[in-house]
Amino acid sequence: MKNNPNDLFGVYVHWPFCASKCPYCSFNSHVHRGAFDEDAYVAAYEREIAHAAQLAPNRVVQSIFFGGGTPSLMSPSSAGRIINAIVKHWTVEPRAEITLEANPTSVEVDRFRGFRSAGVNRVSLGVQSLRAGPLAELGRRHSVEEAVAAVRIAQSVFECSSFDLIYARPRQTLKDWEDELKEALRMAQGHISLYQLTIEQGTRYFDLQVAGKLKIPDEDLAADFYEITQELTAAAGLPAYEISNHARPGQESEHNMLYWRYGEYAGIGPGAHGRLMINNQRHATADEKIPFDWQKNVMARGHGMVVDDVLTWEEQGDEFLVMGLRLKEGISLARFTALSGRQINPAQIAALKGYGFVETLPNGNLRVTDRGLPVLDAVVADLAA
Ligand SMILES: C[S@@+](CC[C@H](N)C(=O)[O-])C[C@H]1O[C@@H](n2cnc3c(N)ncnc32)[C@H](O)[C@@H]1O
Ligand code: SF4
Repeated sequence: MKNNPNDLFGVYVHWPFCASKCPYCSFNSHVHRGAFDEDAYVAAYEREIAHAAQLAPNRVVQSIFFGGGTPSLMSPSSAGRIINAIVKHWTVEPRAEITLEANPTSVEVDRFRGFRSAGVNRVSLGVQSLRAGPLAELGRRHSVEEAVAAVRIAQSVFECSSFDLIYARPRQTLKDWEDELKEALRMAQGHISLYQLTIEQGTRYFDLQVAGKLKIPDEDLAADFYEITQELTAAAGLPAYEISNHARPGQESEHNMLYWRYGEYAGIGPGAHGRLMINNQRHATADEKIPFDWQKNVMARGHGMVVDDVLTWEEQGDEFLVMGLRLKEGISLARFTALSGRQINPAQIAALKGYGFVETLPNGNLRVTDRGLPVLDAVVADLAA
């Protein structure tokens, strides 16, 4: 059985609940108060998976990603029920990557073995910082010691694991980050995600910044943070394979690669996005974001989708560029033409090459150079024009 359109198919499962809301976070995450019937809630995931499999039948699932919110707050048996529903409706490759995002508090770490038995084989831990002060400022509910212990336990329980750090934080100096990152790289095994702090509208950090009470590194300093991050990770044998993601070669996250290679994926759960090929057209789907409204919708009509748009050729081409040019492997120009029905203007490519922002790889792929990555948005806009 062949999957559409480039043989990549994955399932993203969004778990929207968190123990508290971090001040920098704009993800679809909610703190629920009062009683919560988790078994009934998981039944909505089972229903929505059945519906997605009707829209996109006979696919071979290569990766499943439980993201959040905080999916490590669900019980391992809930994760098991969701995985079983996916297995029931699609073929899941025996070696499929099944990732769960986890927060490093002791409650969740105690559940790791249960998640492993349920079928999860990769954990991505939100460590965020290895320093006590910044952890508290970021509103995290775990200590540095708990985070370090969680990384060690994840490494012993799961075949693969990764952890996230946020850099270019308020008042952080380059030297602070260099020391912290070196420590992190000594702990990391195959994979680490390093995100530059972004201030997103609708967050407490955004309000603080508007009020002049939160200062983060300016553009020049942020570029220095980025550069030192590339140097230290490459020297430690975990080079970037995408702007924020670093791995030993061969240990890249398959699910993330599927997004950036513009594969096909079903989005299940509140606020989840999907990209499904239906009747040879690429559909962009998005679910209701409010957790209990989503559940009501799914139980009433079988799915929680509130957006289902057919992407035009132009939109597909733009999405392909935005996703693929983040990758070190770059993009195939032939695939761009197949998706968008047009060619990238050779004069535009030549001009960007002249600035040293893009290069052609021996296999013919076009990629953004290290010099071009800090101005990626502008490069994409030029190529898409
Ligand atoms: C869905 S979130 C978090 C998953 C999990 N609940 C946690 O907090 O660890 C995935 C990752 O995005 C990153 N992230 C979230 N908001 C960010 C922001 N404003 N700037 C940079 N990174 C951010 C964090 O590193 C986080 O671990
Ligand atoms: S960073 Fe993680 S724990 Fe914090 S609010 Fe966002 S999703 Fe929840």
